[in-house]
Amino acid sequence: MCVFCNLWGVTRFAIIGQKASASADFLLDDLPGTSGRLDILLRCLRAALLSSHGLRRQVVVYLVLLGGPLAPRVLRVDGSTVTFLRPDERSLAVLAKKVLSAGPSGPQRFLDIRPGVALASGGIEVVLGDCTDGTKTCRTFVLDEHGADVRDVEVLAAGNDELFVVGDHMGIPDDIRERLDRVGASPISIGAESIHADDVVAVLMNEIARRRVR
Ligand SMILES: C[S@@+](CC[C@H](N)C(=O)[O-])C[C@H]1O[C@@H](n2cnc3c(N)ncnc32)[C@H](O)[C@@H]1O
Repeated sequence: MCVFCNLWGVTRFAIIGQKASASADFLLDDLPGTSGRLDILLRCLRAALLSSHGLRRQVVVYLVLLGGPLAPRVLRVDGSTVTFLRPDERSLAVLAKKVLSAGPSGPQRFLDIRPGVALASGGIEVVLGDCTDGTKTCRTFVLDEHGADVRDVEVLAAGNDELFVVGDHMGIPDDIRERLDRVGASPISIGAESIHADDVVAVLMNEIARRRVR
């Protein structure tokens, strides 16, 4: 269970990497070509956790890695405790490589690999388990072009813990979508046009930030 679930308004993102490498055997010099598009997930991580010269302390990001022989695994980065997170994609890829080569491939619970960065075996179940207080899962939204307009979703950022699930270039697989339906996840849209996953995260963070200022 996530120790931060009781804090006011922790914003969580789960990014689903349908082919993203759950092992460290990718090339830093050809990340898109060798990692199952882990680069997409790393850009989402940056968009969620980093502002200009700042780290968003109340954001937690889960990278759900469904590609390669060690899959599924989830890499979690917790803004409240992580240190030295650099914004460039290569540095984030170096971090992912180190964590994936150091981490366990057994237990379905998060093990801290370095401050604020943890790894678990398992997929979306591990994320949902981390977002529960033992009785119910925090309010969950699936990012979907056909969902309700985010600007009409009043509960958003009202001080609740929230989990936002975003797909990669291949979208969200049916089995995960069905699992999210079963926990009552609501589809929300940030516009009718399908845009890149990291842009979705940036726009959504902006929506949340604007409401919190108000
Ligand atoms: C590049 S899109 C995936 C496109 C993919 N071909 C598909 O069919 O889902 C990546 C992810 O960003 C999110 N997304 C893209 N545009 C969106 C929008 N306008 N509103 C909400 N979510 C969006 C969805 O979660 C999607 O799975």
